[in-house]
Amino acid sequence: MLKKFSHGMIERNILLLGVLTLITVSIGGLAQIVPLFTVETTIERVAGIRPYTPLELMGRNIYVREGCYACHSQMIRPFRDEAERYGHYSLAAESMYDRPFQWGSKRTGPDLARVGGRYSDDWQAAHLRDPRALVPESIMPPYAFLDRPLDTRNIQRHLQAQATLGVPYTPEMIANARADLETQARPDRDPAGFQSRYARARQAAFDGNPGVVTEMDALVAYMQMLGTLVDFRDVTPEQLRQQ
Ligand code: HEC
Repeated sequence: MLKKFSHGMIERNILLLGVLTLITVSIGGLAQIVPLFTVETTIERVAGIRPYTPLELMGRNIYVREGCYACHSQMIRPFRDEAERYGHYSLAAESMYDRPFQWGSKRTGPDLARVGGRYSDDWQAAHLRDPRALVPESIMPPYAFLDRPLDTRNIQRHLQAQATLGVPYTPEMIANARADLETQARPDRDPAGFQSRYARARQAAFDGNPGVVTEMDALVAYMQMLGTLVDFRDVTPEQLRQQ
């Protein structure tokens, strides 16, 4: 009986092979998936993580539109060489409000997960306008056309769409979306309300021109917040172990 029901038989009977493969794969799948239903959340909450400000969100949309992810990843892997070059490895919580996530899989240029604060706003804008002016050997394309006014007409709907997907934008944040966007890009505005809604959000004329809110403002604001929300002195080893 055992001899008859041999490998040779299974390999010659495509239907039997299919059924048995399905059973085997299902066991592995269940072992991985079922435990996830029993835990409260698979992403450990980490202090400091907040949704993007409206200006950063628009910058992120431009990042996606221009395909920056085709050359840049946003995920630092937990290897020593990566940590020494880019900083602390990425936490799951750091991309929990990314819809869609921007981890990427190609590094023609460096990882950008912690590029925020590494350079000045002026450097970021000048580099985007003409990368080779700052890094002569760069093969990054120039994005000088981003110095055009930012289309903010649909800003509330952008926040609403994110909220539908589970990003905790409050009705107050959505109602103030346009005002918050303008406030962040215009340093002469009172930042009180804006900063009460978005912790650790910096107000600046990101493109060097406080008069007009441009696509450059949005993209530089986004670049400058990447990796800056978590203060790693606040994160306990216990939290990191659970990541
Ligand atoms: C064709 C590939 C390519 C594309 C597309 C591209 N980059 Fe780059 N990027 C590079 C390369 C290569 C470098 C390293 C040389 C340099 O600094 O210019 C770089 C460097 C950078 C840096 C400096 C990072 C650091 O740590 O020094 C930033 C910031 C950046 N890119 C942002 C962007 C943004 C934003 C976009 C989309 C608007 C973009 N890049 C699109 C290839 C690319």
